[in-house]
Amino acid sequence: MHLRHSDHDHGPPTVPVKYILEDPQGLTGTDKAEHEVLAAKGEHLLEVAIEHGINIEHACGGVCACSTCHVYVEQGMTSVCESTEAEDDRVEEAPGLRRDSRLSCQCVVTGDGPIVVRVPAWNRNAVKEVPH
Ligand code: FES
Repeated sequence: MHLRHSDHDHGPPTVPVKYILEDPQGLTGTDKAEHEVLAAKGEHLLEVAIEHGINIEHACGGVCACSTCHVYVEQGMTSVCESTEAEDDRVEEAPGLRRDSRLSCQCVVTGDGPIVVRVPAWNRNAVKEVPH
């Protein structure tokens, strides 16, 4: 599915974001588990990851209609936007729900960081849309 990027110009990439991958092989094809990158304010955490070769699952293309892009924001929650009601409703469907659970496609960088994002091992295998 084509990824929906945030639709405005971003500033320079200045915000440190560390991605910790529980399944680096599944997400990058390498054994590198920690990736320190720079994000620009206005970008969401899914597009920052994809830009850096971290292929977080995004079954709906980043429009808050699945929960496959679920991650944990372990540090820097005040440097990302607050979740919307729509995101809260979706993320509740994700496996492994925690207090720091977010949908990476809805989680826009707003502050100076640093931000630490853990991508759970089951991200790749997350259930797509289960027919009712
Ligand atoms: S990619 Fe579907 S909700 Fe984020």
